[in-house]
This record gives sequence, C-alpha cells and structure tokens, in this order.
Amino acid sequence: MTKKIGIVTGGGDCPGLNAVIRAIVKAGALYGWECLGIHGGFDGLLTPVRAMPLAIKDMDGLLIRGGTILGTANSGQFSAKTGRGELRQVPKKIMNQAKANFDKLALSALVAIGGDGTLTIAQQMFEMGVPVVGVPKTIDNDLDATQTTFGFDTAVACAVDALDRLHSTAQSHNRVMVLEVMGRYAGWIAAYAGLAGGADVILIPEIKFNYDAIQKKIKARETEGKHFTIVIVAEGATLEGQGFITSSKTKGDREVRLGGIGHMVAMEIETLTKKETRCVVLGHLQRGGQPTQWDRQLCTRFGVHAFQMIAKKQFGYMVALKKNGMMGPVTLSEAINKLRLVDPDGELVMTARALGISFGDEPKS
Ligand code: F6P
Repeated sequence: MTKKIGIVTGGGDCPGLNAVIRAIVKAGALYGWECLGIHGGFDGLLTPVRAMPLAIKDMDGLLIRGGTILGTANSGQFSAKTGRGELRQVPKKIMNQAKANFDKLALSALVAIGGDGTLTIAQQMFEMGVPVVGVPKTIDNDLDATQTTFGFDTAVACAVDALDRLHSTAQSHNRVMVLEVMGRYAGWIAAYAGLAGGADVILIPEIKFNYDAIQKKIKARETEGKHFTIVIVAEGATLEGQGFITSSKTKGDREVRLGGIGHMVAMEIETLTKKETRCVVLGHLQRGGQPTQWDRQLCTRFGVHAFQMIAKKQFGYMVALKKNGMMGPVTLSEAINKLRLVDPDGELVMTARALGISFGDEPKS
C-alpha cells in the first residue's frame, strides 16, 4: 500500500485546525508517510481536484495559527446536516466522484477534521469504502462521543475576556450588558464562560427562559446595591414557548443561521426594568485567532492519535478524549448525531445556581 494520507477540514473553522494538520504531518513523516491537503472541505475532492502536498517544512508556525490552511466549507455539495437530527445523504454521483478521485490520488487514508456534519459525511464515505479517520472539532463542544472537542477552550477564553471587559463598563454606567455567544444546541460556551466570567444570568438552549425570572434577578441585585447586571446568552437559547431566533430565513442544504437573541433579550430587559441595556454579539471572534495552550496540546494529541489509527488500519473511527483522560477510538457511527448537552440538573448548572446565578427559569426547590 502507498503511504499517503489525505487531510480535509470541514464545517465552520475554529482555532486548532492547523495544529491538528501539523501533528498528523509530523507524526506521519517520521514513519515515511506523505500527506496531501484537500482544499475547501470535501468539495476539494471533486473534479477538478484541489489539493496540495503538505511537507514538514510547511508546518512551521501552524501550532498557533488560527483558521485552516486548507480552507473549509459548511455548505456545498457535501452538506449532510440541515438541522438537529436532520440527516441528508450526499448524492451518490458526488460520492462516487470523490471516491474515484481519492483512488486516483493514490491515497491510503483520509482524515476528516470537523464537527457533526463533517463526521456524518466521513461516515457516508467510509460506508462506500473510503478508509476514513475522524477528528472532533467544534467550538460548541457538542459531540457526545468525546469529553471535549478542540476549539471550545479557545472560544470560552474569548467569551470570558469579553465578559471581563463588559463588567467594568456595565459597572461604570449602572447598565445591564448582554453578551450573545455561539452555541446552537448546546450551551457549553455560555455556561463555562458565564461561570468563569462572573455572569449573573446565563441563558442556554437546554433551559427555556422567561422574562419574569430575569427581571427578578436584576431587581434582587438592585436591592443588594448592585446596579449593573451581566447576562450571557447562547445564540440557540429560546424563550418559553418559542423557537430559535434566526438571522436568515433561507434553509436549503444547510443549517439555519442563528442570531438576534441577544438584542431581543436586551430590548425586553430595558422595557421591563427601565434600566439602560446594551447588547454585544461576540460572533465569529470566538472562532478566530490563536488556540489556547489547552487546545494546542489537545489538537496535537488528536492529530498524533489519528495518524496512529491510520498506521494500524483502524478505519471508520474518530479519535476521542475518553473519560479517563486518554485518547481512544470511537466508531464514527457512535460519534455522529449524538449531541453532548449541558445537563440542566447537572453539577455545572447546580454550581452556578448555588451562587445565585439565574438561568432565566424558576429553579426546582
Ligand atoms: O457549529 C459551530 C457554530 O459556531 C455554531 O455555534 C454557529 O451557529 C455556527 O457555527 C455559525 O456558522 P457560520 O460560520 O455559518 O455563521
């Protein structure tokens, strides 16, 4: 067999993608493996193929560089997810063309680095005979099969930095500041950043909120002499009896674009409490820039283990961080379509509640 690995990055970008690429290339080179980077997500495998050799000398500086040198896509011919649990089979014609090009390139394995959508495509490719290994990426941290995904820690660090900055301005002006962060189905970024950044109200998709509870919290703080309040809201948080707030109506072959919940919450808080309220949407700042030290080591371990799985011909698997803190394989079919959500009755939420942080609901007594 030839010793050539194709590497593809799919879905939304996130800090650490380049660090994973670097680890695969460096670990592979020691054993005489070549690597080929596929450009622009899986679409790069379609004719005309877009690919470039990845040599050790090209890896300099990649440990800390944000984004992906390969480019990525979360739409296009290969889109396999259109919503929560809504799978789409990539058309046979497209898959056949990708497989034919994979063979023409004389690749012996493909590493797919991405979230639920990318790993779903990877599974479909594996089912048609492509030797695939997956690496779990997403700032949302919502893949159940791994204790954590890479990119999440960096996104949390970005949100905490924003909360720290919002604190001082909120306090100076006696205002309510609302920070909208990413988190489509899972509120991990909002929950972790909210705890680490001292938020007073945390709104997450897993717990429906109402304005009475938020108002009560703000009033209680006023009574205590605290005339400012910090609210962090995940883009996928929903008001009781309502669905997602979206910023684009078009759905088609991709997931609907979320956004707007922060402004909506801020406006309502201002109307109800008569307190001046401002909203900041953190958006793609969470997906840019250098990975944190945690993400750098995680990406390096993911990349090396992905290569080791290839060397052992362990295909159809994703490398995961296991409960014991070690790297290990999980089947791609186990990895996809099982979201890791914040447990509303779990330790994280209970710790926050023990501090008096509101989740915008009436907590069970
Ligand atoms: O899945 C990661 C994510 O960051 C979501 O939280 C968010 O809804 C989505 O990507 C945004 O993607 P886009 O880059 O298409 O706006």
